[in-house]
Amino acid sequence: MEGKRVVLVRSPMGKVNNAITAQLLASRFHVDRIVSIGFAGAIDPSLEVGSVVVSERTLQHDFGVTKPYGDVWELPPTLGKPAEAEAGGWASSRGYAYGTILTGDRFVAAKEKRDWLRKKFSASAVDMGAAAIQEVCIQNGIPCLFIRIISDKAGSDARDHFDRSAQSVNYKSVEVLKEFLGHS
Ligand code: ADE
Repeated sequence: MEGKRVVLVRSPMGKVNNAITAQLLASRFHVDRIVSIGFAGAIDPSLEVGSVVVSERTLQHDFGVTKPYGDVWELPPTLGKPAEAEAGGWASSRGYAYGTILTGDRFVAAKEKRDWLRKKFSASAVDMGAAAIQEVCIQNGIPCLFIRIISDKAGSDARDHFDRSAQSVNYKSVEVLKEFLGHS
């Protein structure tokens, strides 16, 4: 794709499935980086369906051992500094958001939860895989980057929005992935 050798895979949903897929890419295909593209719910209220978010960092918002709601395992950034700076530059040159992507195993479809996530983490978007892939990449010493297209606004109507926007978000994903590969 775009002059690069690419192993293109589609992972089933959720942290476990995303981690397995990432580990297969590392162990079986020996990839030298992972670029993950997919859907996310908006946590930043300025984002609309179709907006693009590039990861500055990822966090598991549902990981914790003491409190049911309050503590989170923060993962270190895995991109090398120059690559990270390049991703941020690329995002802003395209008018894409560059921020925190939260990951959890539950689809967020409640305004209260969304607003709490925004307040606690100043996050841009929520998904169900990025931080899990990042953890695998850390363990394997592989850089990774996450590009997410907003499919819904994580409120009570999120499921409907997700279903209605799925096709256009899929098309946009391919377009943005090609754009990124062409640039990098
Ligand atoms: N992926 C797309 N929309 C999402 C949402 N609202 N919550 C979690 N993951 C998502």
